[in-house]
Amino acid sequence: MGSTDDQYRKFANLTFDDFRRMAQDESLSSYEKTGSPDSYRKGKEEFTFQSILSNLPLLNEQGKTVLEVGPGCSDLPRMVINLCRERHHKLLLVDSEEMLANLPDENFIQKFPAYFPQCEPLFRDFAGKVQIMIAYSVLHYVFVEGNVWDFLDRSLELLAEGGEMLIGDIPNVSKRRRFFSSLRGVKFHQQFMNTQDLPEVQFNRLERHKIDDSVILGLMMRARNQGFDAYVLPQPPDLPMANRREDVLIRRP
Ligand SMILES: C[S@@+](CC[C@H](N)C(=O)[O-])C[C@H]1O[C@@H](n2cnc3c(N)ncnc32)[C@H](O)[C@@H]1O
Repeated sequence: MGSTDDQYRKFANLTFDDFRRMAQDESLSSYEKTGSPDSYRKGKEEFTFQSILSNLPLLNEQGKTVLEVGPGCSDLPRMVINLCRERHHKLLLVDSEEMLANLPDENFIQKFPAYFPQCEPLFRDFAGKVQIMIAYSVLHYVFVEGNVWDFLDRSLELLAEGGEMLIGDIPNVSKRRRFFSSLRGVKFHQQFMNTQDLPEVQFNRLERHKIDDSVILGLMMRARNQGFDAYVLPQPPDLPMANRREDVLIRRP
């Protein structure tokens, strides 16, 4: 068994088909099926859920249409499901058939087995009608194997007036570099890795397949240019990756 970082690396660079396969692997925990070592998620998803709730205040209202893209199958989507039941929201879920099969079927839930946005039934029935959209810890996979611009543009097509969308838990390599070149970042690395070595940080270097500030800010600009408000939000410090990840909130005025 290696360090937590080694365990995390085991889950790096996953494709939609990898998740599909992992969703059916009974030797994996529900956290591992969704691409995280237990140490990063077990007992911590309540903090993530609270952060999602505070960023999407419409979730606390009643009778909305909520879409979650890439819910996975750990505790987090079950918290979303419980909230939607309590608040009488309609819940639309888009993920692979295999992943969705791990989540309960209830009358307020509509499952769309698909690779978003390649999901015409969803667009046919819900364009302009989704009041709350969540895509948590999904964008970096789309960045590698899909098209983040299409992901964004088509998401915006779904949002109702006043609707809000959280693209959460985006690993930003620029933020990571800033952190690990700070004194606090160096101390964090040394404690976490139990070493006196300095973390390796290189500026002015393109890291293939990694989201950086240019992508985050580009997404915001693109949403704003289409008439939406868009903001970058820090994660609360109790989230396990808050020092290198951030969230994007988009609102249709
Ligand atoms: C890292 S998991 C995150 C799960 C959950 N949102 C969470 O934070 O616990 C990524 C999930 O997104 C799904 N996924 C990746 N790309 C997707 C896409 N384009 N459309 C729908 N689901 C996608 C994967 O199958 C997987 O369930």
